[in-house]
Amino acid sequence: MGKFWSYTESSINMSPNMSLILLLSSIVLDKVWCQSDCSYQKLLQSLNLANASKVRPVRNWKNTSIVNIDMTLYTIVDLDMSMQTATTFVWFYMAWNDEYISWNPDDFCGIKKLLVNSDYFWKPDLYIYEMTEDDNNSPEIPYYILRNNGQIINAMPLRIISTCNLNIYKFPFDIQTCRLSFGSFIYTVSDIVLWPKSNSSVVNQNAQNVFATKDEWELLSVTVYNTTYKTLGLEYSQVIYSIYIKRVAVVYVLNLIVPACFLVFLDIASMFIHNYTNRLDFKITVVLGFSVMLLILNALLPNSDSTPMLGTFCCICMAMMILSIVGTIATSYMTEQSATNSQVPVWVKILVLKYLARIIFFKRDSDKDELVTPVTADNDPENAKKSETNEDVSDQRRALENDSNVKKEVKLLKRILLEILRIHHKLILNMQQKDAKTEWSLVAQIVDRLVLILYLSIVTLVFIIMICVWTI
Ligand SMILES: *[C@@H]1O[C@H](CO)[C@@H](O)[C@H](O)[C@H]1NC(C)=O
Ligand SMILES: *[C@@H]1O[C@H](CO)[C@@H](O)[C@H](O)[C@H]1NC(C)=O
Repeated sequence: MGKFWSYTESSINMSPNMSLILLLSSIVLDKVWCQSDCSYQKLLQSLNLANASKVRPVRNWKNTSIVNIDMTLYTIVDLDMSMQTATTFVWFYMAWNDEYISWNPDDFCGIKKLLVNSDYFWKPDLYIYEMTEDDNNSPEIPYYILRNNGQIINAMPLRIISTCNLNIYKFPFDIQTCRLSFGSFIYTVSDIVLWPKSNSSVVNQNAQNVFATKDEWELLSVTVYNTTYKTLGLEYSQVIYSIYIKRVAVVYVLNLIVPACFLVFLDIASMFIHNYTNRLDFKITVVLGFSVMLLILNALLPNSDSTPMLGTFCCICMAMMILSIVGTIATSYMTEQSATNSQVPVWVKILVLKYLARIIFFKRDSDKDELVTPVTADNDPENAKKSETNEDVSDQRRALENDSNVKKEVKLLKRILLEILRIHHKLILNMQQKDAKTEWSLVAQIVDRLVLILYLSIVTLVFIIMICVWTI
């Protein structure tokens, strides 16, 4: 301060030469000060955007405007299976040239870009063809970057609700593809051409860098290409981004598939319970458990026109469970029949004992027959014995005919013979009943074995098909 004052004091009594220099310097200073209005305001005023054209800003109408666009996928907010829509959140960028906006940075303190919140200049009418809802949930950032060469950049975050053809055949190991096609709705390809700013590898890398997994989806890749879309004889330029995403299946495997497999395994294991009534109780409990699982599955499964393989699998497992229950009911009925000693119908005998037993290699069948035949063979020796005793009796009769005392013994012997015959008859009856019993239980065993083999083979087959479908 003191220095300044001393300077002014000294300038008061200065020479005319000095005062001229001071005047000149003050003029120069003033000019510099005036020029150094380095505000954006001044640039904006000189650009005169209020009078800027709102039609496509080309000096020759035949020149096409090139719009560069770029998109970085930030996250998949939601994938609605029943509505077949995807809600994505992207960072969007578009840039185009306005031939009427330009300035020399040297004239404006080196300002090369200007951020304006203005609706005065022309903007391309960018449209997303798959969009189904125009929600106002996109954050609004109404700023444009103007560059001194006339480039206008508009970057903003977008929340897009778009249709997405979802295929859930492989649920929960499905991969979905959602497309976002950016294009002008009004301007044809002769007016506006869209170009992707970055190629597929860059777009994919950008997305991988920022992608936030907020839902059950994992990003596989993002690709981009530009094309033209023809409709009603007009051609429109388009840039299409394809998003490939994969479902994170661990939750479904742990909560759904593994328990379902356990239940099926338990149900198969229950086929080895020998007491049919106990087995029936057990099986019905397992089926109840399985239907609870199906209810959960139904809530989890997406509604779609294509049925997921998992649903079919569960349905087949349920059907096999029901079939095995019916089989168990049949076998328990047969064992009941064997208790009441009724005969096995002939057609059942032929169908089950002859053919089915052979088809399923039922070995114990022949063993049982061998067991049965010796018992019937035992009958024959008895018959032989009977004939022997008959011969003995006739011999004795010849020898001791005259003896009257012997007559009583003969009578006794006759009575004994009658008794023996009666016992023999009873024995034969018993044998027949036993035969019927063993036949019924044989039929029951064969049916049981058949159901088990069917059950095991069908479930294994379905398992293999499932794994093939899921892994391929
Ligand atoms: C407009 O098109 C002409 C040729 O038709 C070309 O020479 C000229 O550079 C173009 N102008 C701009 C600004 O692209
Ligand atoms: C994609 O663009 C980047 C940088 O612009 C470049 O390095 C890369 O080679 C390009 N990739 C392909 C496949 O063209």
